[in-house]
Amino acid sequence: MNYTPLQVLRGVDRMLGSSSARAKKQQFCSARLLLLLSLKLALGMVATASPPRSVLVTGATEGLGLAAAHQLVEAGHTVLVHGRNAAKVQRVVDSLEASGGKAVGFVCDLSSMAEVRRLGAEVSAAWPALDGLLNNAGSFDGDYTGKRVVTDEGNEYTLAVNVLAPFLLTSLLLPSLRASTSPPARVVISSSVSMGAAGSRRDPNPNPNPNSNP
Ligand SMILES: NC(=O)c1ccc[n+]([C@@H]2O[C@H](COP(=O)([O-])OP(=O)(O)OC[C@H]3O[C@@H](n4cnc5c(N)ncnc54)[C@H](OP(=O)(O)O)[C@@H]3O)[C@@H](O)[C@H]2O)c1
Repeated sequence: MNYTPLQVLRGVDRMLGSSSARAKKQQFCSARLLLLLSLKLALGMVATASPPRSVLVTGATEGLGLAAAHQLVEAGHTVLVHGRNAAKVQRVVDSLEASGGKAVGFVCDLSSMAEVRRLGAEVSAAWPALDGLLNNAGSFDGDYTGKRVVTDEGNEYTLAVNVLAPFLLTSLLLPSLRASTSPPARVVISSSVSMGAAGSRRDPNPNPNPNSNP
């Protein structure tokens, strides 16, 4: 049976919702593998015949983004490595280049929409035709820490990083993405419905059924 990336992500989150610590650890590893596969499928990079493409990966300094960056470079694609920490971004670029790949770094704190606008302008100027955007960066550092975190711009921190930034960045990069043809560019968003789990947010009206799809 074929699943859409969204269905895979929902399945992964349901798996992560089950009980024992050991089972959770195993499921977490499986979840990462499934997610990585779904990201690759969604980016259309599985076909070995795929021509070299340029892909911006946000949050490419850790986890799934870092793994995706390495796999994209191994397949001959150019990766625009995004992160919020300049030293970490440079380390990733160096390691991708050391493996014979092409990579270029971009630094931006996605909790700031002013920064996202700067990132959008920088990427558009450098890549007027961009073949792929993987909105991967994600954070639990906002209200899920147990206390409200609000950015200087007045946005709740996790909402800013996980929702507002990908929406704004994608909008800003649409002209570059539309300029990519044969095949057309793809935009992939990785997310987690566990971000909205009733037990982890201080919602005055939490979803009474954590297994239902919000
Ligand atoms: N792992 C899973 O099983 C799983 C399951 C469901 C969904 N997801 C989703 O998949 C995505 C990646 O997950 P992951 O587990 O690979 O995450 P991760 O290992 O924690 O890596 C997150 C990446 O996002 C970057 N980032 C965090 N906050 C940022 C900010 N304010 N500005 C710029 N960059 C920021 C981090 O940069 P630093 O290196 O500077 O920290 C890092 O590169 C997330 O959207 C997550 O919700 C993951």
